[in-house]
Amino acid sequence: MSKRVLVTAALPYANGSIHLGHLLEAVQTDVYVRARRQAGDDVIFMWAADTHGTPIELRARREGITPEALIERAHAEHLAVFTGFGIGFDIYYTTHSEETTRHATAIFKAIEDSGGIASRETEQLFCPHDQMFLPDRFVKGTCPKCGAADQYGDVCEVCGATYSPTDLKDAACSLCGTAPQLASSEHLFVPLAKHEAFLRSWLKAPEDGGATRLQPTVRNYVQGWVDQGLRDWDISRDAPYFGIEIPGHPGKYFYVWFDAPIGYIGATERWCADNGRDAADYWKATPEDAEIVHVIGKDIVYFHCLFWPAMLHAAGYNTPSRVQVHGWLQVNGEKMSKTRGTFILGSTYLEHAAPEYLRYYFAAKLGAEQGDIDLSMEDFANRVNADLVKKAANLASRAIKFVGGRLGGRASVAAEDAAPLLAKARERLAAAPGLFRDFESGKAMRLAMEIAEDFNLYLTEAAPWKLVKTDPERARAVCTAVIEACKMIAAILKPALPGWAEKVERMLKLDAPLDFVNAAEPLPADLEVGEYETLAERLDPKVLDAIIEASKESVAAKGPAVADAPDYEVEPLQPEVAIDDFVGLDLRVGRVVAAAAVEGSNKLLHLTLDLGPLGSRSVFSGIAKSYAPEALIGKNVVVFANLKPRKMRFGLSEGMVLAAGEAADKITVLELDAKARPGERIS
Ligand code: MSP
Ligand code: ZN
Repeated sequence: MSKRVLVTAALPYANGSIHLGHLLEAVQTDVYVRARRQAGDDVIFMWAADTHGTPIELRARREGITPEALIERAHAEHLAVFTGFGIGFDIYYTTHSEETTRHATAIFKAIEDSGGIASRETEQLFCPHDQMFLPDRFVKGTCPKCGAADQYGDVCEVCGATYSPTDLKDAACSLCGTAPQLASSEHLFVPLAKHEAFLRSWLKAPEDGGATRLQPTVRNYVQGWVDQGLRDWDISRDAPYFGIEIPGHPGKYFYVWFDAPIGYIGATERWCADNGRDAADYWKATPEDAEIVHVIGKDIVYFHCLFWPAMLHAAGYNTPSRVQVHGWLQVNGEKMSKTRGTFILGSTYLEHAAPEYLRYYFAAKLGAEQGDIDLSMEDFANRVNADLVKKAANLASRAIKFVGGRLGGRASVAAEDAAPLLAKARERLAAAPGLFRDFESGKAMRLAMEIAEDFNLYLTEAAPWKLVKTDPERARAVCTAVIEACKMIAAILKPALPGWAEKVERMLKLDAPLDFVNAAEPLPADLEVGEYETLAERLDPKVLDAIIEASKESVAAKGPAVADAPDYEVEPLQPEVAIDDFVGLDLRVGRVVAAAAVEGSNKLLHLTLDLGPLGSRSVFSGIAKSYAPEALIGKNVVVFANLKPRKMRFGLSEGMVLAAGEAADKITVLELDAKARPGERIS
């Protein structure tokens, strides 16, 4: 009986574009899924975009669109790229769904009902201007350890110190620059220590001798975390938060990492509803009946190997049978970089090169270990050209074209003297499914190339092009043996290169899709081979140079798509406004009658503006780093006068002075000449 298998890749964030790092994971997962299906397993690939959290909310604000519009756009983009790369997911859903909400609610309630939720007040930095609690990454200030300026609230990128955002010196909200205040609010926690015994047993390899649950290195460091003592996990966030409201706790939202993995269940629920299956057969089953396999990168092990199994177990769901962790993708031996053009988006790659090249390269480089994977452009071209083109495609083209051209298109029975090589090829074929199952796709690709190497030699030595004049039947038998080898090669390559296998299926007129078993069968007697279809073409290294060039440009063109240190950011255009909207903007002449520094802020000046018959206005303006207060007195400035008054920590701001500059200390206030009359409208 083949049990059900559910496979996932991590859910990519909807606030970013898909890059080659994501594709490494997508290809690894896809190859695994296809290989297991090819081995006869009942496998589904459940996937989605991860759509909740502060970064998405803020990115949407910055772009002037709703988070819903943002995630919808991202979803369409992700889908186009993954489809372009031939990733065979069954569903690419979204965590912003009724199904995910339903399961998040159910899981939370189950944990809460069993006494597994604690609640207590916590103090956190709050931005009085943006009226929100600030995640660590949205607070910047001076590192308390080394004094480096402009560091994030959780870690100093200069000295590597980690700390809490309240330790930062002169902390500022990274959105508006206001100094945040400490504020307290009630948070909900999952005390993980309650689940220690379960986690310890889950971390052990299953005793039934089944597949290993975790790679040994991963198991070791997760066990290390458990040994250090499990801390309470804060699962709530305060409004405003783009996410799922916590049932029974109005104004509180699930922290995105609570509902993100539940997105796996949500996707399953949706797919099952559309395909006449029952999600409970996976998520409410036992590991004996339904195997759950997650493929993830090494940065999110904590979430998948501690929080996630604990949550599932506590709520009575099935737990993962395996979490497979891959390393980081580097390009040309270094972290992907936007200036070097090695931060390559999936869409950019697809504009220049065939997806099969990259699928093969990743499959050939990936193994069960979680070391980093280097995409070296030189090695990439060499590997594709040496393996796919010169070895595997060339073998098929020599044999199939020769049969078609000189032997009337008909194959026969494999030559006797090829029997030992064919037997060896069958052994290699038989080893492939186990390798794929162990995520050893690199070793499987090697096996295919070894068969090709053997048979290229065999073909060269047997030289059917010479034999054809004296002994055409022997020439035919030699080519038949080679074609049988090509069939086995295609079956091994198939999980990585489904298109290649399809062409071979057509050329050999196979009546069933190639699998690991039928590929070992001899060709049908007197097969008339179909027309040769090109299996692979040489990859010109110039194409790769073009990808790098285009990636240098696409950063500026597409803006900061991904949360990698951007070298250069262009804020996307705000939504179009009609001329009528512009007419609604009321600009007036204001004369500065008083200006003063603001205590507690090094950015703001407090200005008092005379608007003539319209009275006077009190305005806080972020120009303190560019102007001494006295330098402004008497100037006629442009005031955005019908701006809704804003309450700031220092008082009410009743308008805005127009000014611009590329940095806080390079701002120029728009100035009118001395004759301008306060209160006059400016058009
Ligand atoms: N949204 C979370 C995952 C939630 S899963 C319930 C997330 N998203 S992500 O977009 O940042 O990353 C998605 C996956 O891509 C992760 O497994 C991550 O490790 C992987 N990678 C992102 N950049 C990568 C590389 N440069 N190299 C290899 N994998 C990388 O994390
Ligand atoms: Zn702010």
